[in-house]
Amino acid sequence: MFKLSRRQAINTLLAATPIAAAIDAFLIEPDLLSITRREITLPKLPAELDGFTIAQLSDLHYKPEKDHELMSKAVAAVNAENVDFIALTGDYVTDDVGVISPLIEHLKQLQSKHGIVATMGNHDGWTHSNGYFRKIFSKAGIPFLINQNTELNINGTTLHIAGTDYVWLGSPDPTATLKGIPTDSPVIVLVHEPDYFDTMRSVRDIDLQLSGHTHGGQCRVPFIGYAPVKVKHGENYVYGYYKKGNSQLFVSRGLGTSGMRVRFACKPELAILTLRSSPRT
Ligand SMILES: [Fe+2]
Repeated sequence: MFKLSRRQAINTLLAATPIAAAIDAFLIEPDLLSITRREITLPKLPAELDGFTIAQLSDLHYKPEKDHELMSKAVAAVNAENVDFIALTGDYVTDDVGVISPLIEHLKQLQSKHGIVATMGNHDGWTHSNGYFRKIFSKAGIPFLINQNTELNINGTTLHIAGTDYVWLGSPDPTATLKGIPTDSPVIVLVHEPDYFDTMRSVRDIDLQLSGHTHGGQCRVPFIGYAPVKVKHGENYVYGYYKKGNSQLFVSRGLGTSGMRVRFACKPELAILTLRSSPRT
C-alpha cells in the first residue's frame, strides 16, 4: 500500500492548501449566502418598537448569468424572516445598467411588514443618474431616499428612516438628509459608504447608520478577519458593528462582488438586525 512519510504528508498538505483556498474563493464562497443576526440597542427607540427587525441587503452588483441563484436565495431568506423592514444600501449594478430589469424582478418579490427603502451606491451613480434609479425602483414599489427622510408609522409609533446620496463623487447632504427629524427621535440612516459615518454624526447623533460598499474586504484572513484590500470611503469601517459616542454603525459584507468574482473567509451576507430599546439581560 502507498504510504507517505510524515514529511511528505505535510508537504502535500501545504501544496494542496492554496489550491483548496482558490477553489473555495473562486468557485464556492461567492455563492454561499450567510445570515448575520445582531441585536442593536437604540436608547431612544420607543418601547413599542422593541424587537423591530430590519433585513439589510447591500452591494448586489448583480450579474444575471452568475448571480440569479444567489439572489433568489437571498430574497427567499428575507421573506422567510418575516421582517418589519428592508433596507437596500446601494451598488445594485457594477457598470452595466442593463442588469436592472432582471434584478428588479427579484427585488419586487421582497416582503416585509412595514416597507422597504433603497439608497444609491457609487457604482450606480457612476453608471446612470440618480433619477434613473429612483424612477425604476419607485415603479417597483421601492422608494429611493437620496438626501431625504421618511417616516414609518408602526401602529401609531413613528420611526424615521433617512438616506443620503452616494459619497464617492456623489453629492451627499447630511443636513437635508436629516431635515425635520426631532433630535429626541431615533433615526436610521442608509449611507452606502461607511466612512461617511463621522460626517453624519458631526451633524447629530446617528442612532444607527447602515452601510455596505466594502464587501467586508471581499477576501479576509481566516480567524483574525483582517481585510488587506481597502476601498476609498470604506477604509475606517470595513465590516460589522461600530459605536462612537451615541452613534452606531453597521457595515454589511454585501451580497455580490466587484472586480473578480471572488470571496474568501467573507461570505455573501444577509443581515438581520433586531432593534432593542434597552439591552437585554
Ligand atoms: Fe460601493
